[in-house]
Amino acid sequence: MSQNNFYITTPIYYPSGNPHMGHAYSSILADVFARFKRIDNYNVHFLTGTDEHGLKIQKAAEKNKLDPLKYCNNISKIFRDLTKNLNLSNDDFIRTTEVRHHKSVNDLWNKLIDSGDIYLSKYKGWYSVSDEAYYNSDEIVEKNGKKFSTFSGSQVEWVEEDSFFFKLSSWENKLLEFYDKNKKFILPATRKNEVINFVKNGLKDLSVSRTSFTWGIKVPGNDKHVIYVWLDALTNYLSALNYPNLSDSLYKKFWPASLHVIGKDILRFHTIYWPAFLLAAKIKPPLRVFSHGWILSGDEKMSKSKGNILNPLEIIEKYGIDQLRYYLMKEVPHGKDGSISLKNLENCINSDLANNYGNLCQRIFSFIKNNCENKVIKSTNISDSEKKLISDTNALTKNLRVLMNDQDLNNYMKSVIEISFLTNKFVNDEEPWKLKKSNKEKMNNILHLSLEQIAKISILLHPVIPTSTEKVLKSLNIDKKFIDLSFLDGKKILSNAVNLGDLNILFKKIN
Ligand code: MSP
Repeated sequence: MSQNNFYITTPIYYPSGNPHMGHAYSSILADVFARFKRIDNYNVHFLTGTDEHGLKIQKAAEKNKLDPLKYCNNISKIFRDLTKNLNLSNDDFIRTTEVRHHKSVNDLWNKLIDSGDIYLSKYKGWYSVSDEAYYNSDEIVEKNGKKFSTFSGSQVEWVEEDSFFFKLSSWENKLLEFYDKNKKFILPATRKNEVINFVKNGLKDLSVSRTSFTWGIKVPGNDKHVIYVWLDALTNYLSALNYPNLSDSLYKKFWPASLHVIGKDILRFHTIYWPAFLLAAKIKPPLRVFSHGWILSGDEKMSKSKGNILNPLEIIEKYGIDQLRYYLMKEVPHGKDGSISLKNLENCINSDLANNYGNLCQRIFSFIKNNCENKVIKSTNISDSEKKLISDTNALTKNLRVLMNDQDLNNYMKSVIEISFLTNKFVNDEEPWKLKKSNKEKMNNILHLSLEQIAKISILLHPVIPTSTEKVLKSLNIDKKFIDLSFLDGKKILSNAVNLGDLNILFKKIN
């Protein structure tokens, strides 16, 4: 894969219920990284989709008295529509019920058989349908006569059935070597340590087929077994590039994946099973797995089974999509859990969007419209305070690519909003409105620099709040096709003479 290609994925979602804020969070986060790379001149391929096989889905379909595929068609469509509601820029949407996916899974299975990594035996142990995961006896607690996983809290059932196994135990050392060689394969570092400790404690062979239900991809040559839904699901990242066609241009360009964005609940699958399957099949593992924390409601994970869900569609309807995107990205700390509430959402909209960035744009645009007929011409004289704003801004932008490359979106956003704060302060201190008669040249310079700052902030915020920033940039005559980050390398964004378009209110303050 060339340096300039970037393949990024979200988890593929179980269509076992309607999408909620947790799903929205993973998807928006991945979208922000995808959009940032695009404006940094990468060829980006951004994938999302739905994970449609397994017992969890079969049971959900039965509950709805629908054939599983019909059931999946309905809910997968809701997830696909959500990509529009969330303003995701995904290039593809994969469903694991598609033919292209079946082909990949079959091929991967056959490779694992050929390499001698799969054998037939019997599984006896605990299984959580809700997590589609096997748990060891030491990961189980009993409450009121029922058994639960200590890892996820979900209920488990005892399973005994014929099963194919993947020789995960034989990959322990190779995985540890792999983590050691690829220091940033797992981010943030706390998650990496968690995984390394888990692997060091010893890995057991993994059951990779089930015989007690039918909704899944059949094991090639053995109809009694369906392939374990996680082996099936993880392969989506390859299927979307038309694997096993190794000469396919998508595969050649984009594999290995640059970044899988996932929640911490599915860390083991992505950082232990997935690289082990790939190494065994002699396919390069992905370059990075970034695991984010949970969206909490109070101090509980927001989830369907807990019934504490904030509906993203209702929030978008009431407050707007950029407002929701900004809030989620700002509020949830890097790699950690974040509690969200309507009150905090409203505070965030007022403080950062309406009073800070929105106010900066509005005050400068309306001043120029009312006093300068929408035209600003800059001279070559630069005052000390202008120089200071430029150098303070440079100091804040210097690290932004590094922050984004480490998926540290919170610190990235803090820096950008600080630039907006400094620019507002500069305008307050310089009082261009007092120079209208006395020093037009200086007034024009202050306004021009403010516009250049607005352009920078808008470009930097574009990955997070694409709709509003496009409006601002359009009024500065920057079409969305030409939004890019070359100013980080010292290029000026605006020409010396700027003609502004009109700009309507961007963010309504919430009272
Ligand atoms: N289908 C699997 C993923 C397969 S990827 C090859 C799955 N699906 S899921 O629908 O249950 O959840 C997918 C992801 O949604 C989680 O990993 C996480 O990224 C996100 N979230 C679900 N609930 C969440 C929160 N409350 N908070 C943040 N994200 C969480 O697991």
